[in-house]
Amino acid sequence: MYARMAQMRIGNVKLESPVFLAPMAGIADLPFRLLCRELGGVGLAGSELLNARAIVQGRDAICNKALPPPEDSPLSVQIYGSVEDPLPEAAAWAVARGAQIIDINMGCPVDKVCKKNGGSLLLKTPGRTATLAKQIVNACDGVPVTAKIRLGWEEGELTAPDIAKRLEDAGIAAITVHGRTTRQMFRGSANLDGIAKVVEAISIPVIGNGDINSPESAERMFQHTKCSGVMIGRHAMKAPWIFDDISRHLRGEFSVFRDRNTKIQIILRHLELILEYRSERAALHCMTNRIALYGKTLGHIKPLKERVRLAKSADEIREALEAWLTVETVQ
Ligand SMILES: Cc1cc2nc3c(=O)[nH]c(=O)nc-3n(C[C@H](O)[C@H](O)[C@H](O)COP(=O)(O)O)c2cc1C
Repeated sequence: MYARMAQMRIGNVKLESPVFLAPMAGIADLPFRLLCRELGGVGLAGSELLNARAIVQGRDAICNKALPPPEDSPLSVQIYGSVEDPLPEAAAWAVARGAQIIDINMGCPVDKVCKKNGGSLLLKTPGRTATLAKQIVNACDGVPVTAKIRLGWEEGELTAPDIAKRLEDAGIAAITVHGRTTRQMFRGSANLDGIAKVVEAISIPVIGNGDINSPESAERMFQHTKCSGVMIGRHAMKAPWIFDDISRHLRGEFSVFRDRNTKIQIILRHLELILEYRSERAALHCMTNRIALYGKTLGHIKPLKERVRLAKSADEIREALEAWLTVETVQ
C-alpha cells in the first residue's frame, strides 16, 4: 500500500497521495476544497466544471474559479463543452494562468451540459472526442490533460475501455472513471468490473470513482480494479476528513478518532472559510443545505439542525454551532 502513496503522478505533476476530491459543481468550491485540504490526505482536487465558452468570453465569475490561490494546490481545472466549443482555447487560457492539470468533463449526465453536446455526450462520438482531446493536449504546452468519463452511455454501450485507449493515444495523461453509465445517473452501485476493464485497456493512470465512503471501500476499489488512485465525491460532503482516513490507511496508520466536538469545530471552520473566500449569503446557503449531511455523523442533533436551518445570519449559525459544543452527548 505504501508504494502506492509514493508513486502517484499525473504527467509531470507529482502528487502526495492517490486520494482525490471529486469535482462537484456547486459543492466542491474553493472554501470546501481548502477545508478538505486542511484536514489532510487530498492528493488532488478538481475545480467546479467551467464552461469553455464562458472562459474564452472572459466572464469574470467563471474565470475566477479557474484562478485559485496557491493554498488550493494541486488543482485540476475542469472544463466542459462540445467538439464545436473552444475547449483548446479555454484550456490554453487556464494553462497560461498557471493551471497545473486540465481535466475534460466527459461524464456529466445533466441536461445543462449534455444538451450542449458536452459532458457524457462526448462518449457517444469516440473518434471526434479523441481528436478534440488531441487538440486540447496540443494547446496545453506540456501541462497534463486528463479526462473524466463514465462507463458508457447505457448498459448496452460500455464504451469506456475503447474511448480510454483512444484518449491515451491522443496524449491524455490520466483518466478518472465513474463506475456508472450516463443513463444510470446515480442509481445502483458503481461497477468495479467496468473500471477494471478500463485499467486493463490502457497504461496511463486510472482513477477509480464511485461510492467510496471509507478506507475499506477505497481498498476494495484499488484491489478489485488495480486503479492507481481513488476519487471521492458525495461522502466528502458528510465527512471531509475521509481523505485523511484513506491516506492514513494506505500508509498503514490508524484513522484519527474525531468526536462530536471536533466535527463541530470542522463545520465552524467551513463556515469561516466560506465567509473569507465567498460571502455571508453563500455561507447561509451552504450551511442551511448541508447541515443535514454533516449531521449524519453527529448523532442526535435535531435541535441544532433546526437552529441552523432557520438562521438569518452567519453569526446565528456560529452561535448555534458553538452552543452545541457544550451540550452533553445524547446516546
Ligand atoms: C452535486 C454533484 C455535483 C457534481 N459535479 C460534477 C462536476 O462538475 N464535474 C464532474 O466531472 N463530476 C461531477 N459530479 C460527479 C462526481 O465528481 C463523482 O463522479 C460522482 O459523485 C461519483 O462519485 P461519489 O460516489 O464519490 O460521489 C458531481 C456529483 C455531485 C453529487
